[in-house]
Amino acid sequence: MTISLWQDGAAAVPTDPFPAGGRFDAVVVGGGLTGLATAVMLARAGRSVAVLEARSIGDVTTGRSTGKVSLLQGAVMSGVRRSHSDEVLRAYANGNREAQDWLLGFLGERGVPVERRDAITYATTPEGEARLEGEIEAAHVAGLDIERETETDLPFDVRSAIRLADQAQIDPIAALRALAAEARSRGVRIVECARVTDVHLGEPTTVATARGEIAAQHVILATGIPFLDRGMYFAKVQPSRSYVQAFRTAEPLPTGMYLSVDKASRSLRTATIRGEEVLLVGGGGHVVGREDDTLAVVDELGSWTAQWFPGAVRTHAWSAQDYRSANMTPFVGWMPRADRRVAVATGYNKWGMTNAVAAALSITADILGEELPWAQVLHHRVTKPSAVASGIAMNAEVGGHLAADWVGAALHALPEDPPAEGEGVVGRDGVRPVAVSRVRGEVCRRSAVCPHLGGVLTWNRAEASWDCPLHGSRFDHRGRLLEGPATDDLAPVE
Ligand SMILES: Cc1cc2nc3c(=O)[nH]c(=O)nc-3n(C[C@H](O)[C@H](O)[C@H](O)COP(=O)(O)OP(=O)(O)OC[C@H]3O[C@@H](n4cnc5c(N)ncnc54)[C@H](O)[C@@H]3O)c2cc1C
Ligand code: FES
Repeated sequence: MTISLWQDGAAAVPTDPFPAGGRFDAVVVGGGLTGLATAVMLARAGRSVAVLEARSIGDVTTGRSTGKVSLLQGAVMSGVRRSHSDEVLRAYANGNREAQDWLLGFLGERGVPVERRDAITYATTPEGEARLEGEIEAAHVAGLDIERETETDLPFDVRSAIRLADQAQIDPIAALRALAAEARSRGVRIVECARVTDVHLGEPTTVATARGEIAAQHVILATGIPFLDRGMYFAKVQPSRSYVQAFRTAEPLPTGMYLSVDKASRSLRTATIRGEEVLLVGGGGHVVGREDDTLAVVDELGSWTAQWFPGAVRTHAWSAQDYRSANMTPFVGWMPRADRRVAVATGYNKWGMTNAVAAALSITADILGEELPWAQVLHHRVTKPSAVASGIAMNAEVGGHLAADWVGAALHALPEDPPAEGEGVVGRDGVRPVAVSRVRGEVCRRSAVCPHLGGVLTWNRAEASWDCPLHGSRFDHRGRLLEGPATDDLAPVE
């Protein structure tokens, strides 16, 4: 797996020195879309802001997304409606609409290309068709002006489809670069390679990194999934990884942004990169660390594309993860609610191009003492019992993995020989679960226990990484933390 199409050839965002001992109105932790949009909004309101990013801007989910900025979001509206009242559904749609307007307006002002496209959700199976009917009802309640489609320009038949006109597709790295440029022009400090390891509540609140501490009145955790245990948000969302591939093809390209609601979901869009139009195909979603053979998932996406776009040549293949809340609506707010010092934003369910900006609007309004009607409804939403039950089931799965994976590791002693090239294996060494991998000839032995809350890691063949099946932390083959709620690398093993 490689870097994303958007990351390929993109110039790095300049980084500022770490402002050790500095004090800001707000410290934003995380330099993805949530973090940078929040930084721009607060800086426009005259607040002093620092953004601390553990890796580089766009390295994690935003820079690896498919960049559809759409209010038609597969079957999300019916999912929100199953979990909440119609009032909450309308608030969700209104927040996404305001966020879409904000982002596209911002990109327009900054001269960043935005391609207007219709969004089409389609079904090829009877089950998908039934889901689509639910989505049509929910979309009407949400106030989306959708149309039923009888024909698409896809190279295969669909049973039914719905279309929402005039949505948009963007290059998400270009969007982040534009946000970073505006933030910096307004005095925001953007510091890369600054992983926050802890937040100490107080007056002021302090944020700790290995490079020192800084203080702020407000801290915004825009980290994809929060790394603090407070609020237990890591247990309220499920990490889902999926795959995207870019292809050169002489076949006619679909003109819309497509997403299927069938079990094997497919996402399609085009992208114009350096004057050339390419096809993007996404799919293969699974819970992080719970797919036995991720390489097979990658291959399956390639074979599907070859079937429908013969002769397509793959130029890029990458993957990323996002977090789904059991009740289908993001968690955006303060931890705890009454104390506006630490805000959190997570659970965008792979629709963060709008939800991240909605989160930024909501948190900024709270800090500035303004009220957004849709955000107030979302803050005070009540979840239906069926969605509460699905949250309980999600946690039961986590508990089941924790127990079963420890038993599995305890039962299997490590083989004497290291694994084959590109493989990793977990086994018992004495009483400890140990992870051994071989990548480009280098054999690495690390603890197989996730430093977050003790999950036993699994090997991800497609990305040569150790992935945690509990809350989605990931580590490279040398044990260095890549993403997720953990804050430490894997412990070395002699
Ligand atoms: C394959 C895929 C395709 C997608 N396609 C679409 C799409 O077409 N349309 C759409 O609307 N949405 C899409 N999404 C969802 C969307 O990309 C995400 O919801 C959104 O990018 C999340 O933004 P974020 O800022 O919250 O997270 P991120 O972009 O992940 O940013 C979080 C940042 O926080 C940093 N960080 C983490 N921990 C720390 C720490 N302790 N200290 C400092 N920094 C830290 C990370 O390094 C990271 O850079 C897709 C998601 C996936 C997985
Ligand atoms: S991510 Fe929570 S235990 Fe690994």
